[in-house]
Amino acid sequence: MKVAVLGAAGGIGQALALLLKLQLPAGTNLALYDIAPVTPGVAADVSHIPTAVKVEGFGGEDPTPALQGADLVLISAGVARKPGMDRSDLFNINAGIVRNLIEKVAAVCPKACVGLITNPVNTTVAIAAEVLKKAGVYDKNKLFGVTTLDVLRSETFVSELKGKDVNKIKVPVVGGHSGVTILPLLSQAHEEDKIKFTDEEVEALTKRIQNAGTEVVQAKAGGGSATLSMAQAAARFARAVLKGLTGEEVVEYAYVEGDGKYARFFAQPVRFGRNGVEKILPIGDLSAYEQAAIEAMIPTLKADIELGEKFING
Ligand code: NAD
Ligand code: LMR
Repeated sequence: MKVAVLGAAGGIGQALALLLKLQLPAGTNLALYDIAPVTPGVAADVSHIPTAVKVEGFGGEDPTPALQGADLVLISAGVARKPGMDRSDLFNINAGIVRNLIEKVAAVCPKACVGLITNPVNTTVAIAAEVLKKAGVYDKNKLFGVTTLDVLRSETFVSELKGKDVNKIKVPVVGGHSGVTILPLLSQAHEEDKIKFTDEEVEALTKRIQNAGTEVVQAKAGGGSATLSMAQAAARFARAVLKGLTGEEVVEYAYVEGDGKYARFFAQPVRFGRNGVEKILPIGDLSAYEQAAIEAMIPTLKADIELGEKFING
């Protein structure tokens, strides 16, 4: 297996490179690409860690050598938020970066699974889908918006509030990856048994999870957004995809093109398999609060998706 990280010299990219070097199965090849001149140095640095993952670094304008033979491409290339910005404020710069990189994916490794981390994820995934479609290589089972960080945060916050074992807790998060489109399904949160919340707890936790990215942006005070927790989230996502590709059944939440019940792309539970998404699983029973929250988010999510589609198709 080969994993390529595009944006590998950035805040997420460097931490992700470290975690992948430590966590990927023995024998995996890890290709690190970034336009930043430091990239070969990041690769050299990580490559000195004694694990059986082989690391190569690539710089320059062309990601082709990093992409050759890739089974999974993780993209965190682009700019991050500063205080006062929304994720959508990143569109002007990141849309073009994602388009150009996905054009290369389409040409060099069209059968690879692609995990998009670059914000605004609600929109960049639509951009990627349309670029791949134009190139005649779109496979909706292989394109993912990485929303695993919302799941990590939900698991952490719920376990802290309720004194539960964070390694056993499960909290589904559906929708998209910004503001009201992030929806933790607290009515389904469980450790061994279902976890009970008061209405006030549901309201407060939902808001905290939706604003967790902003919490980090404000705390970093101009120094960027979440990188370390995001790297751990992306590493968990990558391990799940690779397990699927090698025939092991594993379920994670991701932003994918499904049946379009709510919107063309929607974060939902996905069973990974040998061809990417093996099955999209139902999101389960919703509380009245969650049902209303889904209905309320749909116009925002659809507008975010349309923005991406229009960016490519005019
Ligand atoms: P960063 O600025 O630290 O790193 C971005 C890297 O991208 C830089 O090293 C830069 O050189 C590189 N880059 C820019 N253009 C490139 C190109 N064309 N090809 C290759 N590399 C290129 O930013 P970061 O903190 O790592 O965040 C990266 C992105 O991830 C941002 O858009 C951020 O909003 C997003 N993000 C998403 C999530 C999520 O949950 N999906 C979480 C955190 C951050
Ligand atoms: C996050 O959720 O931390 C990321 O999407 C980065 C951001 O801008 O909030």
